[in-house]
Amino acid sequence: MKGIILAGGLGSRLHPLTKVTNKHLLPVYHKPMIYYPLETLVDAGITDIMVVTGGSSAGDFLRLLGNGKEFGLRHLHYAYQEGEGGIAEALSLATFFAESDSLCVILGDNILEDSIRPYLENFKKQQGGAKIFLKKVPDPQRFGVPELDGDKVTKIYEKPKIAPSEYAVTGVYMYDHRVFEIINTLERSDRGELEITDVNNRYIEWGDMTYDILEGWWTDAGTIESLLLANNLVANSKDNRSAVPPESSPSSEVSDQA
Ligand code: DAU
Repeated sequence: MKGIILAGGLGSRLHPLTKVTNKHLLPVYHKPMIYYPLETLVDAGITDIMVVTGGSSAGDFLRLLGNGKEFGLRHLHYAYQEGEGGIAEALSLATFFAESDSLCVILGDNILEDSIRPYLENFKKQQGGAKIFLKKVPDPQRFGVPELDGDKVTKIYEKPKIAPSEYAVTGVYMYDHRVFEIINTLERSDRGELEITDVNNRYIEWGDMTYDILEGWWTDAGTIESLLLANNLVANSKDNRSAVPPESSPSSEVSDQA
């Protein structure tokens, strides 16, 4: 299985933070945002990985990640997306890299608490098709939202005014090689993008889509509010709570002064 991180787009919802750099290079607590999806893939045992990026700071990804040695990788592959033609357009740039392998695709601004290794094993068992991952959220209208019928997804609505469920479709997707055939037939949406939701709906129409619900926390980091949330979730995660010495934490400074 190959891994693809989609880190293109202009990050305009984070202006002025993204005026001179790419969203995925911004810090989330103690690491650049792009580290999180990369670590998620590597932790799942995926070593053949492509980063799709864009904009004027694309060269900074090379300077930051190089060949991925810091992550235990021997190579990292890169592709460049011109403009902001959508998530499915960014994915299409990985066509030659993917060959006929299955893919784990992760959006560069998605941060997960869980290891995706067990979910990946579930996907391998289904022999082809696609799998998406859902998480209950307080504001589903901000995301792709699934309409569910028992253990089936019947349709996904992209940023609907009225959400058909309380779940967001997270930015982790597993596909067989037919995903590129689907992208080739897509038409641009009203906002001028090739939509990943249209790709997923095609698999649903074919009866080839399954879903799992993520157990741990999940967030994107593409708006000021969700970037703050991502920072707080990472800061309060098990690993980092124990990594911060009590004497240097802001709360202990407050209590020292009291
Ligand atoms: O985070 C999950 C959500 O991500 C899903 O629920 C939605 O169905 C999906 O459309 C997407 O929604 P967003 O509005 O949050 O997508 P955004 O435009 O912020 O793009 C998310 C990431 O995808 C971004 O960090 C980089 C990558 N991307 C996006 C665009 C538009 C690209 O690589 N190229 C692009 O042209």
